[in-house]
Formats: sequence, C-alpha cells, structure tokens
Amino acid sequence: MVRRTFLKNAALAAVGTAALSSPVSAMLKEDKPVGKKKVLLVNGSPRPDGNTFCALQEIESQLKKHGIETEIYQIGNKPVRMCINCGGCRRNGGKGCVFNDDPCNEIAQKMAESDALIVGTPVYYGQPNGGILAVMQRLFFASGRLVQNKPAAAVAVCRRGGATATLQTMNMMFEMMNMPVVTSQYWNIAYGAGKGEAKMDKEGMQTMRTLGSNMAWLLQRIGDGPAPERDERPEFTNFIR
Ligand SMILES: Cc1cc2nc3c(=O)[nH]c(=O)nc-3n(C[C@H](O)[C@H](O)[C@H](O)COP(=O)(O)O)c2cc1C
Repeated sequence: MVRRTFLKNAALAAVGTAALSSPVSAMLKEDKPVGKKKVLLVNGSPRPDGNTFCALQEIESQLKKHGIETEIYQIGNKPVRMCINCGGCRRNGGKGCVFNDDPCNEIAQKMAESDALIVGTPVYYGQPNGGILAVMQRLFFASGRLVQNKPAAAVAVCRRGGATATLQTMNMMFEMMNMPVVTSQYWNIAYGAGKGEAKMDKEGMQTMRTLGSNMAWLLQRIGDGPAPERDERPEFTNFIR
C-alpha cells in the first residue's frame, strides 16, 4: 500500500469513532440520558472569545447533545497568584487555597459540584499559559480531594507548535490525582492564531467533538458508582529517606 493510502486509511479508522455509525455514538444511543452529570470546562486564555474558547465550545456542544450539563469558566485577564508553598491549605481545615482574590477557590467550588474537568489552554512558548498553570497547581494542591477520581482532559490551542508538550504538562497533573484521562481520535489540539481561526481547523474541531463524545461515554459508564476503594495508606517518600 502506498504511504498516502495507508495514512488515509489510518485516519479514516480513527475518525470512525467520531462520525457516521461510530461505536461510541451507537453505545450512547442505547443508554439512558446521563442525567445529572456536569462537566466544568476551564478556559485558561486571557481572550474569552479566542481560539481556546472555540475549541471548548465544540466539546460543549457534544456534551450537551448527550444530556450533560456544562459550564465554561473563563480565567480571563485578571492577575492570578502562584503557589507559594506556605502550607496554609494544609492547616485551614479544607478551606482551599489561602489566597481568595483570584479564580482558584471559585473553580474549587465549581469542581465540588462537577463530575469531570476539561482544561483548555493556549500554547505559550510550547507550554500552557502561565495563568492556567498557576491556578491549576494551586487547585490541585489545595483542593485535590475535589478533583480526585474525576475524568479529565486537556486541550491545547496553538498557531503552529508546542501543543503536545503543553498537553503532556497538563496531563501530568491529572495523572497524579487519580483522574482518568479522556482521549480523542487525535491529540486534543486545535490550530489558529487570530481570534476564531480555530473554527477553520476541520480536523481539530472534529477531534474536540469526539473528545466530548468520549467524555460523555465515560461518564455514562461510571454512572453513580463509587470511587475505587483504597485500603493502603499513601506512601510519601523522597530520595533521601
Ligand atoms: C506569549 C505568547 C506565546 C505564544 N507561543 C506560542 C507557541 O509557542 N506556539 C504556537 O504555536 N503559538 C504560540 N502562541 C500563539 C497562540 O497559542 C495562539 O494565538 C492561540 O490561538 C491563542 O489562543 P486564544 O485565542 O485562546 O488565546 C503564543 C501566543 C502568545 C501571546
């Protein structure tokens, strides 16, 4: 098979999960509506109507189609603090981060009533933008119990490059919190520079829709089942003792 035909067939096989009579859609059709499930989508971009927003909207459309409640939370362009490793969140009886003047604790509250988390970020110098990293690091450190065991996905939006490194950085956080990472037919990337350009990325937008379907499917499958039981105390060692 010539390389071009092989690539086309491989792409069609992957796209099969999103389009036409996909296995995922077929399963969802058989299921009863997901009901009270909610997905929080956090947009790390300072541009509330930029390309990351377009990507999140595309995911949202699919989640809604499957009866899932959604909320897009915009970090916006207000200042956000970084974690200063003060340990205050360990001593304040579960009140979250000691800083209350930025979106961190508000997102924590929203996570308390959400079943899954999707984080969208523009790519800045091959990484998530600074604001979303700062907020997520504090959210996970101070309010980790509110995200534990909830499915998660990251979405990276860029003009040209650095999206896979960005996704990896975001996924590293989910992987430390027992959060099942939800995937799509391709890495969760959309391309665009000027506001709204990402809508023209046909494959990127389809990847977002498939991600939405897969998230709906997983939430449906988890249902109202309990979190996994852990009968071991967590070990916490470092390399010097
Ligand atoms: C400070 C800065 C750094 C950027 N770095 C990258 C980069 O490393 N790779 C890239 O492809 N695009 C880069 N971009 C472009 C943005 O990722 C791109 O315009 C994206 O669509 C912005 O998303 P938004 O509209 O949701 O804010 C950068 C933009 C800014 C402002």
